[in-house]
Amino acid sequence: MSAHPLTIAIDGPSGSGKSSVSKEVARRLGLAYLDTGAMYRAAAWWCLREGVDLDDAESVTAVVDTMPLTMSVDPDDTTVRMDEFNITELIRDSAISTRVSKVATNLDVRAILQNLQRARIAAERNGGFSGGAGIVAKGRDITTVVAPDADVRVLLTASEEARLARRAKDVHGTADAQAVEATKDEVLRRDADDSTVSQFQIAADGVVTVDSSDLDFEQTVAAVIAAVRSVSAL
Ligand code: C5P
Repeated sequence: MSAHPLTIAIDGPSGSGKSSVSKEVARRLGLAYLDTGAMYRAAAWWCLREGVDLDDAESVTAVVDTMPLTMSVDPDDTTVRMDEFNITELIRDSAISTRVSKVATNLDVRAILQNLQRARIAAERNGGFSGGAGIVAKGRDITTVVAPDADVRVLLTASEEARLARRAKDVHGTADAQAVEATKDEVLRRDADDSTVSQFQIAADGVVTVDSSDLDFEQTVAAVIAAVRSVSAL
């Protein structure tokens, strides 16, 4: 393990494999794992549950500001709770996937969640679940806005074709033409909406690009760990 706490920031478009790869990197390096996408999903779930109109930006902000969210940062236990409810699975529902960008493009909501994310990263650098080893934080704006000073910053990309096929397999169990078509909203439309507030299509200065189009899971994890080792004496 590194002598100093490590912050690894990973951004990328939908279907690039960010979640599974980031989680596995955290597991192998003994770090915490922060899924910032789950925070936006939880916020959208909570607004719907509270009956808030997602077009009413002010009400959405007020509800998100006081939401009783708790999240585990153990890569082997990614439980998300709102009050006593375990919403880990519920926030993966397509009803949330189709609406989450609406909440995530609210700039006041972004400021609230970005502050929570920075606090969580700082907590892991000073102790927390990782005992001060550090954290892998994954999202859309981690390398650029939330943790631009992270020790390692990676943009995980893949071709549109590869991303659609992957997501179609995850959601529909197959990547045939019909499944790929059904996945377009969740991948292409969502990324287009998200791109209006975050830059995750091209790497910012100092951010390493890992293109997973022709890599399998193991090779992608290895490529990210190689990027980590190039800057840290792990
Ligand atoms: O990573 P995931 O696909 O679960 O993210 C869900 C949504 O959360 C994204 O489509 C985006 O709207 C939002 N998000 C964001 N900024 C992040 C992480 C996620 O806007 N750092």
